[in-house]
Amino acid sequence: MYEFRGTTLQDAVHQALRHPALSTKKLAKVAAKFDFTARMRMGSVLFVGEGNLSFSLTMSRKPHVPTSSILATVYEAEEDLTDTAYDNARKLLKLGCSVKAGVDATQLYDTIGKRQFRTIIFQFPNVASRDPRYGQNPNHVLVTRFLKYARNHLKPGGLVVISTVDSPFYEGAFKMDEAALKAGFTAPAVYTFDPKNYLGYTHQNTANEESAADGHTAFATFVFS
Ligand SMILES: C[S@@+](CC[C@H](N)C(=O)[O-])C[C@H]1O[C@@H](n2cnc3c(N)ncnc32)[C@H](O)[C@@H]1O
Repeated sequence: MYEFRGTTLQDAVHQALRHPALSTKKLAKVAAKFDFTARMRMGSVLFVGEGNLSFSLTMSRKPHVPTSSILATVYEAEEDLTDTAYDNARKLLKLGCSVKAGVDATQLYDTIGKRQFRTIIFQFPNVASRDPRYGQNPNHVLVTRFLKYARNHLKPGGLVVISTVDSPFYEGAFKMDEAALKAGFTAPAVYTFDPKNYLGYTHQNTANEESAADGHTAFATFVFS
């Protein structure tokens, strides 16, 4: 039986039925994982903040993915890329994808112009600083700004997809529902995410940081439409 944090799906369904106000959302999270591969097959995907580019490479290698419509980007300048990122960039190019360095997810127009995509993906957004910005957690500010800018680069019916650690601490840091609202999206649908399902994906830390994923076992994917 599918288990989520020690709760069986059946238990979760019963819990949610007993407390209907308690969450359709929680139920969706327990029940499903986001189908990245199906989405990739629709083509026209932008990856931002890809770090070592291993997630975009893993997904671009899936069968029947139209690689020529994929743009994988990293925040860092080309000269600052790690050897792994360089290596993965070469592999992506060989597959027919495009790769771009120095792309700020909060100022997409500056580097990708007016290009629009069906899906925009940011895996484990994280800024190195913990200093509040405008009285807010800097990760909340990052995600809110990213969502605002990403909207202009979505084709009709497009989705923005963000994965993070699933814990009260991270929920408090990102405040995804609030970020969605500020950026003009409805509250995101929440799915489970397990990095182990993506062979070849090796999560990269933000510079000088412990990994956002290290020591955590529960992850979530937020889908904004
Ligand atoms: C925890 S790492 C995750 C890297 C990669 N997405 C992964 O899952 O392995 C966070 C990433 O966010 C990137 N980042 C931080 N601020 C950004 C911004 N404004 N625009 C784009 N990427 C940013 C960092 O460069 C870093 O690579």
